[in-house]
Amino acid sequence: MFAPPTYAHRRRTLCRTLRDESGLVLFLGNEESAMNAAANPYPFRQDSTFLYYFGLDVPGLDAVLDLDDGEARLFGDDPSLDDIVWMGDHPSLRDRAERAGVDRTAPRSALSETLANALKQDRPLHLLPPYRPRHRQRLRTLLGDARDDVEAYVSAPVLDAIVTQRSVKSEAEVEQLEAALDTTAHMHEAAFERAAPGTSERAIAGRLAGIAEAKGRGLSFRPTCSIRGEVLHNHDYSHSLSANDLLLVDAGGTSPLHYAGDITRVVPVGGPFTDRQRRLYNAVLDAQTTALNAIEPGTSFIEIHRHACRVLTNHLIEIGLMNGPVDAAVNAGAHALFFPHGLGHMLGLDVHDMENLGENRVGYAEDQSRSDQFGLHTLRLARPLAPGFVLTVEPGLYFIPALFSQWRDEHRHAEYINYERTEAFMDIGGIRIEDDVLVTNDGARRLGPEIPKTVSAVEAQAGAS
Ligand code: GLY
Ligand code: MN
Ligand code: MN
Repeated sequence: MFAPPTYAHRRRTLCRTLRDESGLVLFLGNEESAMNAAANPYPFRQDSTFLYYFGLDVPGLDAVLDLDDGEARLFGDDPSLDDIVWMGDHPSLRDRAERAGVDRTAPRSALSETLANALKQDRPLHLLPPYRPRHRQRLRTLLGDARDDVEAYVSAPVLDAIVTQRSVKSEAEVEQLEAALDTTAHMHEAAFERAAPGTSERAIAGRLAGIAEAKGRGLSFRPTCSIRGEVLHNHDYSHSLSANDLLLVDAGGTSPLHYAGDITRVVPVGGPFTDRQRRLYNAVLDAQTTALNAIEPGTSFIEIHRHACRVLTNHLIEIGLMNGPVDAAVNAGAHALFFPHGLGHMLGLDVHDMENLGENRVGYAEDQSRSDQFGLHTLRLARPLAPGFVLTVEPGLYFIPALFSQWRDEHRHAEYINYERTEAFMDIGGIRIEDDVLVTNDGARRLGPEIPKTVSAVEAQAGAS
């Protein structure tokens, strides 16, 4: 955990931002989640907003912040003898509260009465959106008579204030992100070394998970580690690598305090890139470098996304897969056949940071609405950037058989796409290059150790064990 004053300070900041509001904000902690029986749970993951304001990384806790007096109360129970016998020594509830800089504690069973009293007195209750079925169930139980109104208590002002606060990372948080990226760099180094013909995806994915566990607090998301890199969030590890495959590894470890790394690299298996692979790889690298160089406070990320799309499209025209003019092709969304996702997203305690608080609330300014154009519709981050934001930059090029067949059969954007030529490239799979950056006062700083990215560095590293 950070020191207790960090959490007290964060809560004070939240109360100050919400000085026009009154009542109680409820922070539900997460519970263990059973894998196949209660005593065999999935690895525990605390709710990120609870971690941010209270830091306590254990199940069985909730907290309430009173916006009228600024005081927080931690609800939980002291460990039972059974807890200690089976799971080892646990601090008391009071000790835990002290670590979070909280003075008031109460048994967990008292939470329901606290909320009922507030509602009886017509005090506003502010909830965060439930994202686990268990949250919804608990909220219904806790709210008693008001249980049908769970959604009505989800509080836009509180969500806005939390998102604003969590969007700007402190120095201590950036150190955590750097620690996550240290682990992530080791993971990618291991993947590079093992990317040889005959190795299985599963063996490499297992190694990634092992390093993440051994060096940090585990994986920040289920990695993609696949020669089928065109499947954007591929979680299948069933293939063996062959010479001339491209292995796409999108993986990240977490720091001791659960901050996330999120890096993608592509490795040519068993030798240098083929000419076609190299050409496409360099197109993605050019788009990523251009985007990284364009990041500065005040610039809207959607503009950087569009810029990266134009760079990619230019290359695709030169390769003969698309036809210009570039601006018209990009405005029409034709490039999305090859790049159907957004350029990046916020990063922090969550890999898609704060997504449970509302994707548009995190990624879009009030005067920006999300496009429904294919490709642009999955742009998670569009808003003007500010110092302290941490985000990913991850352009890619993909050859997705189902998407290709549908568009070709519909003659979609036929003036911009050379379908016949593209068909000959369908064996390429997918190429993505992803780095994590901090927006600074005058530009951006890439976070974490350098992980090979240029063609020559990647080729030198591939299979170099
Ligand atoms: N690793 C998931 C993503 O890059 O969005
Ligand atoms: Mn990402
Ligand atoms: Mn990623």
